[in-house]
Amino acid sequence: MFDFLNKDAILDCMIKGIYIHIPFCINKCPYCDFTSVAFVDKDIFRRYLNLLKKEFLLYKDKNFNIQTIYFGGGTPSVFPPEYIEEIIDFIADNVKTVNNLEITIEVNPETYRYKEFKQLLNAGVNRISIGAQSLNEKVLKSLGRWHSPKDVVETVYSAADAGIENINMDMIYGVQGQTLKGLEEDLKGYTQLPVKHISAYMLTAYEETPLGQMVKRGEYSLPEEDLLLDMFKLIDGFLNEKGFDRYELSNWAKKGYHCKHNLFYWTGEEFLGIGVSAWSLVDNERFGNTKNLYEYMEKINKGQSAVLFRDKLSPEEKRKEKIILGLRLAEGIDIELVKDKMDFVNQIVSDGLAKIENNRLKLTPEGIMVSNYITASLI
Ligand SMILES: C[S@@+](CC[C@H](N)C(=O)[O-])C[C@H]1O[C@@H](n2cnc3c(N)ncnc32)[C@H](O)[C@@H]1O
Ligand code: SF4
Repeated sequence: MFDFLNKDAILDCMIKGIYIHIPFCINKCPYCDFTSVAFVDKDIFRRYLNLLKKEFLLYKDKNFNIQTIYFGGGTPSVFPPEYIEEIIDFIADNVKTVNNLEITIEVNPETYRYKEFKQLLNAGVNRISIGAQSLNEKVLKSLGRWHSPKDVVETVYSAADAGIENINMDMIYGVQGQTLKGLEEDLKGYTQLPVKHISAYMLTAYEETPLGQMVKRGEYSLPEEDLLLDMFKLIDGFLNEKGFDRYELSNWAKKGYHCKHNLFYWTGEEFLGIGVSAWSLVDNERFGNTKNLYEYMEKINKGQSAVLFRDKLSPEEKRKEKIILGLRLAEGIDIELVKDKMDFVNQIVSDGLAKIENNRLKLTPEGIMVSNYITASLI
């Protein structure tokens, strides 16, 4: 399916993707554990932008062959489009890039409209990922979101009208009180819009978030496992019927619209992450920046690296990564990678959690629900 990627690329030390983290949001959502702060003062945007450029220069002598740039957050769409353009131009001026760059920006539904999308398109952005979460008012309320379904629809159409055809919409399911019927309505709404890609994530109540604390105190209840499995099967079946192929645990796309950047993560290609909390895989080494915004800004300002940890991948670690990341993909992993665990593999196959096709081990929907347990047992 992914013949444009080299699956053994983990050995190929060439940076192909750049991730840029923008850690500012209008409000902080109660379920979110991403590194972001609700900003009070827009002056910090310019300072942060200058630091992103300064940090990038720390890596300018690395081996680049850029095919993707991804602006993630936080909420990158709180930045004026000129700032996004400035970063793209800066990268293009400083490294080798290839034609057909995929440039994605995450956009919250209450931020950009036609004018901003036109500016972004002219700057080279050709993919947007909208943090829609749902088209249902009640679900949005339950998630503590402050945009309306109308904001989502307006965002999609204004991006499409501006000429951006590669549009993703995020969905969160497994929200308190959500029914299969409600979810189906949401799916109908999503697939009636001009989008090419849908990411559907099961709501995770991270312990350290306000939502996690509410769940702990019994003030918010997540759906039972059986209902969650039915929800996943509904999403998968519905989207398949509408021409969206599931290529990863939480990602469905129309033919030719897989997210190239995210596929780089899952297939072990090298990428550089810039900004607070950003991760990288460069020269066979995984490393990650501090999650503390002020520490990040101080270090970069002084011309120092903001890296907090480094982990050089040994051959055994690379094998494990191939299993962990590969099992996320619909095409699964080469069975050879787990030949020392065939008793366990046979067990999960007979339990209906996995299947073997053309010498590849793939998770079934039931297996996806317990994927953490399966990968932990296989590595
Ligand atoms: C990097 S986040 C930020 C996107 C954007 N700021 C927004 O909220 O619209 C990307 C996506 O992760 C998903 N996500 C974030 N926190 C989640 C959680 N606790 N459980 C499930 N999905 C989550 C949401 O669908 C979100 O759009
Ligand atoms: S979910 Fe998105 S908008 Fe909400 S706090 Fe997290 S990054 Fe910001």
